[in-house]
Amino acid sequence: MTYSRILGVGSFLPEKRMTNDDLAKVVETSDEWIFQRTGIKARHIADDFDTTSNLAVKAARRALQQADTAPNEIDLIIVGTVTGDYAFPSTACLVQQKLGITNNCPAFDIQAACAGFMYAMVMADAYIRGGLAKKVLIIGAETLSRIVNWQDRNTCVLFGDGAGAAVLGASDEPGILHSKMCADGEFASVLHMDGRMNNGEWNGAKFINMDGQAVFKFAVKALSEVAKDTITEANFPAEKIDWLVPHQANSRIIDATAKHLGLPREKVILTVAEHANTSAASIPLALDEGIREGKIKRGQHLLLEGIGGGFAWGAVLLRY
Ligand code: ACO
Repeated sequence: MTYSRILGVGSFLPEKRMTNDDLAKVVETSDEWIFQRTGIKARHIADDFDTTSNLAVKAARRALQQADTAPNEIDLIIVGTVTGDYAFPSTACLVQQKLGITNNCPAFDIQAACAGFMYAMVMADAYIRGGLAKKVLIIGAETLSRIVNWQDRNTCVLFGDGAGAAVLGASDEPGILHSKMCADGEFASVLHMDGRMNNGEWNGAKFINMDGQAVFKFAVKALSEVAKDTITEANFPAEKIDWLVPHQANSRIIDATAKHLGLPREKVILTVAEHANTSAASIPLALDEGIREGKIKRGQHLLLEGIGGGFAWGAVLLRY
């Protein structure tokens, strides 16, 4: 039986770091307000050269190195992003070119907002288990600072830029154990950027719009349920989870999900204070930090979970 497992992980944050105090000079807000409600202290902001594909490539190189994998060994690239460089070609195609991958492997983006990395992981797992690929590069990469309205304190304090990547490889031993991906388009208007090109002109919203309280309410319920469902379907007891690696949107949402699973905070990888919400990049950034800090070790069981615009959400149970 063929399984897929994580061979290597990498991430990248732009150099520029913006604290809550820096933000308080731009909009009427305070470190206290932001930290109390979200757990965020700072975020990283891309400069003009840090396109989403450039951030993605930097994270990918680190993941390839950790996986001891040459770029041309990759036989599928999937990038989760809502801030790709262009409408097309896909960011995944740009990543393929910038990494010097010349084997014509398929490459495409998926759009599942903050759940994008998990969606990519589940697709990669299916390709590998189905015998269609042996080594897959999955990436979550975002430059949300470009679609945030820097005059809207309701949203601009929440987001940051960055990228995270993983190489998944075929294995005789189980890695990805179980997953559950969900979506509900009924909630499309709660969190969205509903602008589009129309005959050479941009029509509609140019920035992220959000009903914060509605997102909060739905997120706590949906994430608690999907996390529980995933381990129940896998017949995996919650107490055997070594690390919860959640989407880093808000420490209060994370705490509520951990509590529902009966997991103490010591078993949660928390990066929201320094990264803020980096959408599709947030889970692989947290995963990479957990591994590089020596918290997450080989053989341990991880539960990834997150939700984003759509709504699109899910959870993945895996053995690292
Ligand atoms: N600084 C100071 N005051 C602010 C700020 C700010 N940055 N933003 C809003 N306020 C004010 C509001 O104007 C309002 O003032 P008023 O009472 O005079 O009208 C007051 O603070 C309370 O506003 P609320 O929106 O009710 O604040 P709430 O306690 O709900 O917190 C927050 C807002 C942090 C957005 C919360 O709803 C939340 O975390 N929601 C989840 C949203 C989220 O995580 N989105 C990320 C994308 S989705 C995802 O990744 C899961």
